[in-house]
Amino acid sequence: MRIPIIAGNWKMFKTVDETVQFIEAIKEGVASTDVEVVICAPYTALDAAVKAAKGTTIQIGAQNMYPEDSGAFTGEISPMMLKDLGVSYVIVGHSERRQIFKESDSLINKKVLKALTTGLKPILCVGETLEERESGTTKDVVKVQTVAGLKDVGKDQLTQVVIAYEPVWAIGTGKTASSADANEVIAYIRELVSELYDDEISEEIRIQYGGSVKPDNVEEIMAESDIDGALVGGASLKPESYLELVNF
Ligand code: PGA
Repeated sequence: MRIPIIAGNWKMFKTVDETVQFIEAIKEGVASTDVEVVICAPYTALDAAVKAAKGTTIQIGAQNMYPEDSGAFTGEISPMMLKDLGVSYVIVGHSERRQIFKESDSLINKKVLKALTTGLKPILCVGETLEERESGTTKDVVKVQTVAGLKDVGKDQLTQVVIAYEPVWAIGTGKTASSADANEVIAYIRELVSELYDDEISEEIRIQYGGSVKPDNVEEIMAESDIDGALVGGASLKPESYLELVNF
């Protein structure tokens, strides 16, 4: 049984005060959901988020990390530092990191591996651009990103990994992949995991959909056979909307 996981990706939004207010506002409403509830806050609000979420089922994630414990990496944050704060998840390879910050598959793979050895659960993002979708290469792109992202990840570590399929053209655009299309790509990723590892683990690994998930489409998306949750940007920023998502 895969426990669905709904994660808010706040991106570069919310101060410490706003974070604490948000968590206070959702505390009660998340108590009744069976899904795993994660908030990926900006670095500066992580400490406050972990403290505010104490005693609740809300788990806190970071949106990025650098794959070393420490060193001369000006401006970077290590997984050890995140772990030290009580963070449990970390988003790795989000399309904004791939596109704006030119992160490569091999760097993303290093992050996945380092997150795992540090005891953080990586949410590995994969997904095609509009151009790639239109040229019919969606599955090829997703295959390259998934295979590269999971390189050298042991079978015993794989249950700690969440994959998020996020078509780039659906992120922040209001356009969602149809739930059937999203499910088809996610089922394909599951097949890939089965080829790389085995059937048993491919049935266990959780694969989310991300890209303009909102309260009014979450139910349809979550009803699909292979979709185990959502990674949500815009609609995760307001407590009321976030609560509707996790109580879909
Ligand atoms: P969106 O963002 O829900 O605003 O489309 C999703 C994401 O970037 O993870």
